[in-house]
Amino acid sequence: MPQYKALVTRTLLPEALDIIREAADVTVWPEEAPPSAEELRRLAADADGILTTIMDRVDATLLDAAPNLRVISQLAVGLDNVDVGEATRRGIPVGYTPGVLAKSTADLAFALLLGAARRTSESERWVRGGGWEIQFHPMHWLGQDVHEACLGIVGLGQIGREIARRARGFDMDIIYHSRTRYPDAEAEYGVRYVEFEELLAQADFVILSVPLTPQTHHLISAPQLAMMKPSGILINVSRGPVVDPAALYEALRDGQIARATLDVTAPEPIDPNDPLLTLDNLVITPHIGSAALPTRLNTMKLAARNLVAGLQGERMEACANTDAMG
Ligand code: GLV
Repeated sequence: MPQYKALVTRTLLPEALDIIREAADVTVWPEEAPPSAEELRRLAADADGILTTIMDRVDATLLDAAPNLRVISQLAVGLDNVDVGEATRRGIPVGYTPGVLAKSTADLAFALLLGAARRTSESERWVRGGGWEIQFHPMHWLGQDVHEACLGIVGLGQIGREIARRARGFDMDIIYHSRTRYPDAEAEYGVRYVEFEELLAQADFVILSVPLTPQTHHLISAPQLAMMKPSGILINVSRGPVVDPAALYEALRDGQIARATLDVTAPEPIDPNDPLLTLDNLVITPHIGSAALPTRLNTMKLAARNLVAGLQGERMEACANTDAMG
């Protein structure tokens, strides 16, 4: 008989749930939408471990309500919904899922970059709307070249590096900025470090791949958008609040930058009446960076293994607070 009780806050693929079921009695929240904070506290009351998603707020109030908790396993690489410091103070290890989803997220970032450069979503909407009346028009739908353009990557973590690897195949000139400079990665990925302002001014495409922290909140706001080229394209695959939506709206409306694509918004989901959605030069996808089936399965399995390791007091494959692991 499993000796632990595990709470899983969203439906997982069966292969991942099986991993947890071997070690614990599992309660899976069955709804499409996540549990409310109150429901989460109620369900966590007797849990030894919780597998969370980015929609669950894991804070002192939840931890107070879950006195038996010995592990939190987050199904994501971003941990902005988890108070990791509070978990550490209580000796609770926090698992997360780096590595497994970087390539898929970089694939999506590149899809968004190519789509924005060549205006694929915008022109497809035009076709469906009955706009295509002349077979070929030499002046229609002129976009930007991706090959040999300058790509600015903000944040050179695993996702940023995978984006750089893809950009090399397009002969792009790749510059990056991050809090820490990485001389080894510069050689390996063919990227050049520049100051943030320089990156904004030089890049034809600016991709954001930073974690959300107090320092990166509204990292892109009116002054930064004003530094970008008028032909510049902004792509956000990190977290919505990294971009100030009101400033982005004005910059896109006024043609201060050419286009933007957001895979993440603030808030999520975006309000269907948000003024951003009236703009033709903006594409929004619904936070699908890592939503490729094999990657999602691997991510779920890693989160499941982290949960089981934490329940059994063993070292997790990926732990955000190794100091809590004892
Ligand atoms: C998804 O957004 C993640 O952080 O993994």
